[in-house]
Amino acid sequence: MNENQKILVIGSSNTDMTVKTQTLPRPGETLIGGEFKMGAGGKGANQAVAARRLGGDVTFVCKVGRDLFGDNSIKGYEREGLDTSRILRSDKPSGVALIMVDAKGENCISVASGANSDITEADIDSVSDLIREASLLVLQLEMPTPCVLKAAKLAFESGVKVLLNPAPACALPDEIFRYIFLMTPNQTESEFFTGVPVHDEESAAKAAEVLRGRGVKDVIMTMGSKGSMAFTEEGAFFTPARKVQAVDTTAAGDTFCGALAVAIVEGKSLKEAAGFATAASALTVQKMGAQESLPYRNEVK
Ligand code: RIB
Repeated sequence: MNENQKILVIGSSNTDMTVKTQTLPRPGETLIGGEFKMGAGGKGANQAVAARRLGGDVTFVCKVGRDLFGDNSIKGYEREGLDTSRILRSDKPSGVALIMVDAKGENCISVASGANSDITEADIDSVSDLIREASLLVLQLEMPTPCVLKAAKLAFESGVKVLLNPAPACALPDEIFRYIFLMTPNQTESEFFTGVPVHDEESAAKAAEVLRGRGVKDVIMTMGSKGSMAFTEEGAFFTPARKVQAVDTTAAGDTFCGALAVAIVEGKSLKEAAGFATAASALTVQKMGAQESLPYRNEVK
């Protein structure tokens, strides 16, 4: 077992406003939806809370506004048992995500980044001590890219593993790929970063080869309701998804990453980690909402 099991998540914090609809509206269309829910979200926050609920020792760094949403988010993270002592404040409003979820549980998300977009390279410098002390740094792409690069580089140079969930996909500097220990793109993101459309095992392997050729050590590609394909130094393997009735797939990928993080710092193999993460995300999709739907360790068992 690893002695240092500290997980540091640096990323976004949002308040999610979700409407359940039968189908997702087309451009210009108004639909009468169903239930409305407001809850805690943001890919960074979801991954931090998921890792914490699954037993991780997690510090979360994000930037929220000096407003009610920001205050409520921090209170929520404290209740979850995250170390929130280094959360930053911005004069911009806290991040908000508008989400629509259809009858099959598929979603459409639009994010007003607000304070998330105000994270600076100086902010990353100010938490360099946390980066150096971590066992694993977890990053996503809901904060400015230069900050993601800076954090990944600092971690890599300090011998700290970096898990990058490249969501939402955006252009990344070539340099970043060699700092990544584990990258977890979904099919769309895989195509975005490699130009290889991913629809089966063979195309997934091709896309992973491109990423690994650019310097990423290991890749676990999530393939929605099919499961995930891993291309790692341990070998290539497929982990089938559990067959469940999806109500809302929001935060399924975040749960997957949070669970992977916990399993990795506990010294589990990536194969075991993928199995654990698959079980955890199968629980998330059966409930509405982002953080409300994240499972606890005893439920995953
Ligand atoms: O991955 C789901 C998350 O994406 C939501 O919680 C929303 O806030 C957006 O960041």
